[in-house]
Amino acid sequence: MDGNGRWAKNRGLPRIKGHEQGADAVRECVEGCGDLKIEFLTLYAFSAENWGRPKTEVLALMHLLERFLKEKTPELLEKNVRLQAIGRLTDLPDACQRQLHKSIERTAGNNGLTLILALSYGSRLEIIDGIKSLLRQIEEGHIDSAMIDVEMFSKHLYTRYYPDPDLLIRTSGELRLSNFLLWQLSYTEMYVTTKLWPDFTKDDLFAAVEEFGKRQRRYGGVL
Ligand code: FPP
Repeated sequence: MDGNGRWAKNRGLPRIKGHEQGADAVRECVEGCGDLKIEFLTLYAFSAENWGRPKTEVLALMHLLERFLKEKTPELLEKNVRLQAIGRLTDLPDACQRQLHKSIERTAGNNGLTLILALSYGSRLEIIDGIKSLLRQIEEGHIDSAMIDVEMFSKHLYTRYYPDPDLLIRTSGELRLSNFLLWQLSYTEMYVTTKLWPDFTKDDLFAAVEEFGKRQRRYGGVL
């Protein structure tokens, strides 16, 4: 969800105002996914690297996340959205963790869109955690290293319960992955828009999905 800072700067506002507007865009996007009957939406809300931002911004983002979860959970329930999260969640402030787990539990019975928030998420960390988890299984004698393949490794990632993404939407014109789902995006279609995240609307989502529909996916093979 890139471009919050620029959105605010363009208006002479503090960066957090851009994040607040970005939280409103989340609502619009979730609604759009519901309209399209999309099953999974993963939002890169806070990266492992984002902890390096100024303390005031980090704190404001954590408060915003906590407030968002508290205020929006009834709406998630109403829209049949199941909330999930990936990342090093124990790095989040306690109050944030508590609210996150509360919202996850309250929405656990929903069977519409699964909304996955990537929080304190870094793909390289995830891969390292996956390797450690595999090594533990080998040490405990549950598996043999010769058994490791793509499918097995995928089961040791934070995303083990979800399919690989079909479409990656990158806002604000950035042409990089920024340590997001590096393993899972291997055959994902990419869509880049110059729209800043706070300006991203349902129609922008629909345009991205329409463009996705025109792609021919070959997965390294031939058609
Ligand atoms: C990147 O834009 C955005 C973030 C680091 C935070 C994203 C957070 C939200 C949209 C709101 C909170 C999330 C939820 C789910 C309630 P940037 O700050 O790097 O923008 P810039 O590149 O223009 O500076």
